[in-house]
Amino acid sequence: MSEPNESGQAGMLDQPVSRRGLFVLLGFAGLATAAGVLTPIIAYIWPPKQEGDQAGEPVAVASTLDLPPGKGQVYSVNNRPVIVINTPEGIKALSAVCTHLGCIVYWDEQRGAIACPCHAAFFSTNGDVISGPPPDPLPVYPVQVVGDQIYVEGGSS
Ligand code: FES
Repeated sequence: MSEPNESGQAGMLDQPVSRRGLFVLLGFAGLATAAGVLTPIIAYIWPPKQEGDQAGEPVAVASTLDLPPGKGQVYSVNNRPVIVINTPEGIKALSAVCTHLGCIVYWDEQRGAIACPCHAAFFSTNGDVISGPPPDPLPVYPVQVVGDQIYVEGGSS
């Protein structure tokens, strides 16, 4: 039992800390600090898999009734914006992220082309650049139509 201190209370603070105990305490503090610093860095470098991250897995985006001929719409496929267009050659899906600076494109029904609102660029329904500054075409994603349902394989890029 320890002797009462100046305030008249006995406690653990009155007991001397051994050098070994101090090293153990500093070791735990160092490990806790390292874990606190390294955990978010590791999570940033290797993010945990999220549901819907399986690139290539078909995702139901819409019904053909929702997307009649000549119409186009941007949908989220595996957390990526994808533009789906009902063209005379069939239903097509392309990345909706402009290859210039990453703006989200839209379907310009009047021009029959995919348009980027940021720098007035246009892409064909095959993704090729018609005009404007984008350096590359839009990536094309595989589409399946089963009954009335349109499926797009989640893009991996
Ligand atoms: Fe699309 Fe610049 S971001 S043209």
